[in-house]
Amino acid sequence: MRLVFLGPPGAGKGTQAAKLSTKLGVPRVSTGDILRRNVAEGTDLGKKAQSYMDSGALVPDDLVISMTERRLKEPDARQGFILDGFPRTLVQAQALAGLTPIDAAVNLFLEPEDLIKRNTGRRVCPNCEAVYHVLMNSPRKEGHCDRCGTPLTIRPDDRPDVVRARIETYDRQTAPLIKYYRDRGLLVEVYASGLIDEIFHRVLEALKI
Ligand code: AP5
Repeated sequence: MRLVFLGPPGAGKGTQAAKLSTKLGVPRVSTGDILRRNVAEGTDLGKKAQSYMDSGALVPDDLVISMTERRLKEPDARQGFILDGFPRTLVQAQALAGLTPIDAAVNLFLEPEDLIKRNTGRRVCPNCEAVYHVLMNSPRKEGHCDRCGTPLTIRPDDRPDVVRARIETYDRQTAPLIKYYRDRGLLVEVYASGLIDEIFHRVLEALKI
């Protein structure tokens, strides 16, 4: 399957896309993770992207589109993929349509007050990129990754002021994609409040998997 996950910051795109990727055996392609890796490695792309990410703005379309095109051409994505965080603008959606058809765009929606809690409580593993939440999805050993034991960190863009900026950016630039995909008969809506496994069942039902 070729899927897109849409939704505001902290809606649970990464969490649900990772579970679905395991179930379907297709890669999860997270543009946020690829960009963060580039920032950590100090690549040219990372240097160009960092200031946008730190302020809660979107990285320019041309950079993200070419990065995603390259990733989707890798052999593991030939049989399908789950895009997490791409497209985020109309220009990106049009570029994706020119590159490959998709089967559905899953829109995770949630009350705004829950988005702030989810983002500010997030902890991430800098080694294997696993994602936790201090209250709602905590690791077995406090502050350490369940998978690899690495001490967990806070994403720089999870400061409350940057979270608010990311939500504003989403409302202005990404929310219009809901209509874009609805108009093309590809939109699947999933309410993203509740336990992670409950939401996963809703995703599977909505996609008729
Ligand atoms: P990105 O990493 O994509 O950030 P985002 O869209 O803001 O999404 P998040 O990763 O914050 O949230 P999520 O919906 O994946 O939620 P998660 O599953 O982690 O992008 C970061 C930046 O990179 C952007 O701001 C931009 O600058 C740049 N960028 C990326 N893509 C780009 C593009 N295409 N174009 C331009 N720029 C781009 O869950 C959140 C938290 O909640 C976690 O702690 C999790 O454990 C917890 N949680 C999840 N589900 C539940 C649940 N059901 N109950 C309780 N807790 C839960």
